[in-house]
Amino acid sequence: MSLKSLMSFYQQRVNVALEHWLPADNINPSRLHKAMRYSVFNGGKRVRPLLVYFTGEALGVSVEHLDAPACAVELIHAYSLVHDDLPAMDDDDLRRGKPTCHKAFDEATAILVGDGLQTLAFYTLSHQENLPISAERRLMMLDALTFASGSRGMVGGQMIDIEAMGKQINLVELENMHIHKTGALIRASVKLGALACAEASEDTINKLDHYAKCIGLAFQVKDDILDIEASTEVLGKAQGSDEAHDKPTYPSLMGLKQAKQMANDLLQDALDSLQGFDKKADPLREMAKYIVTREY
Ligand code: IPE
Ligand code: IPE
Ligand code: MG
Ligand code: MG
Ligand code: MG
Repeated sequence: MSLKSLMSFYQQRVNVALEHWLPADNINPSRLHKAMRYSVFNGGKRVRPLLVYFTGEALGVSVEHLDAPACAVELIHAYSLVHDDLPAMDDDDLRRGKPTCHKAFDEATAILVGDGLQTLAFYTLSHQENLPISAERRLMMLDALTFASGSRGMVGGQMIDIEAMGKQINLVELENMHIHKTGALIRASVKLGALACAEASEDTINKLDHYAKCIGLAFQVKDDILDIEASTEVLGKAQGSDEAHDKPTYPSLMGLKQAKQMANDLLQDALDSLQGFDKKADPLREMAKYIVTREY
């Protein structure tokens, strides 16, 4: 199967699973549930759930055991985007081709949408029935996702991003910002897929983690490049947002050409770490390529 069909199959799968966890529009408080659904079912690429599925399947885990962790990480991601777009943060009006949550609803609702989606992520992981994993494994999954989401993961990265606005930072500081704000959740996605396999060895887990670190950083390097090179129409979010907010990015620090080279080097490094894996890891290889070649 081509990556395109594979992606579309799993995107549909995770959407069905998300549908199960998100309260219906007519459940009170219906404005909040409507806004939560608006922010989740709006055409995201679902890269993080795909990584959960592809990692789990590379290790022989059956797909139905990956739905809950796939949903959980996407719910955290969707919340992070709603808050990222708020006037006090990146102040963006367009997300996934539609008005951002605070534009379509209002700021207070958007803040609560983030809170509601974040807690729903942890509820999903703890509540999922019929998962053939031990309570200890489930706790390890919760541990991985909470750490990656919090002040020493994504939220910490967002703080670094806000503080770096309008400032000169060096490459080490920029990498630190990117591996936290974006890398942490991508790394957690792969970790969740690996934790779903009780037999995965430490060596296997370490190799997958190295792969995840590389693609996690590459993902944000590419996001920075797209912010310059892609159109608002294709991106579904405002082109030039980073420059408008005087954000330090890879292209702004090292130039576009070097940033592209860096994304390619990270791709190579990611592929190298999968060398000992069989064909079942091909979707992970394809995903790594997709992350640095995508158009939005
Ligand atoms: C955008 O993430 C925000 C970053 C972490 C760079 P995605 O590019 O995965 O956004 P969606 O989910 O497809 O909209
Ligand atoms: C987002 O980084 C990281 C998050 C944790 C959401 P950006 O601010 O560059 O993401 P976009 O470009 O708005 O999607
Ligand atoms: Mg941001
Ligand atoms: Mg932003
Ligand atoms: Mg961006």
